[in-house]
Amino acid sequence: MRETVSLALTGASGAQYGLRLLQCLLMADKQVFVMISRAAQIVINTETDLKLPGTPSEQEAFLAQLYSAKEGQLRVFGREQWMAPVASGSGAPSKMVVCPCSTGSLSAIATGASNNLIERAADVALKERRQLILVPREAPYSEIHLEHMLKLTRMGAVVIPASPGFYNKPTTVEEMVDFVVARILNQLNIEQALMPRWGDDLI
Ligand SMILES: Cc1cc2nc3c(=O)[nH]c(=O)nc-3n(C[C@H](O)[C@H](O)[C@H](O)COP(=O)(O)O)c2cc1C
Repeated sequence: MRETVSLALTGASGAQYGLRLLQCLLMADKQVFVMISRAAQIVINTETDLKLPGTPSEQEAFLAQLYSAKEGQLRVFGREQWMAPVASGSGAPSKMVVCPCSTGSLSAIATGASNNLIERAADVALKERRQLILVPREAPYSEIHLEHMLKLTRMGAVVIPASPGFYNKPTTVEEMVDFVVARILNQLNIEQALMPRWGDDLI
């Protein structure tokens, strides 16, 4: 049976990070439970050439075809689909990533709002002490944003800012995206060939 990872895309800039992560998880033969906020849909349609359809079932078919997902490998759940596995500790996978993570979703997760399925799934991950990775993007950060990140870090979540490094001398946007996605995959303990690990060339 495939390992399952939950992936929420919210409305911060950087849709490419979430979409590339989805592609890499599928290529790594993971099952992926995807949630896409309404704002994320706007950002995806603004920042990429994709025209993501509006309903979860249409999005599922669209993304499955785009990334050649195998039968049943990719599921998209709607914002109020409370019967989805991610909404309960008994059904949720052990790993969840919010990428990109808007400051709005960051706030809702830090305060346990649970007003939509993304917020609820993150709340479940926290209460069950499962792996939760947040990839925020904002500049500059306010004290509120920083406090939320500190609070979530103290609860065991991992904050991976969408801030690519430059020591690999990237020449394309894709390489910069892969820098961040490789960090997330490393954290998830999923093998990746996007970026060598530091010091690999010395071994
Ligand atoms: C094109 C676009 C870019 C945005 N970029 C950011 C961003 O980088 N960071 C952020 O926190 N919010 C950003 N926002 C605002 C969020 O989408 C907005 O606060 C929204 O309510 C977040 O909702 P969500 O968390 O449910 O996705 C952006 C919105 C749009 C339309």
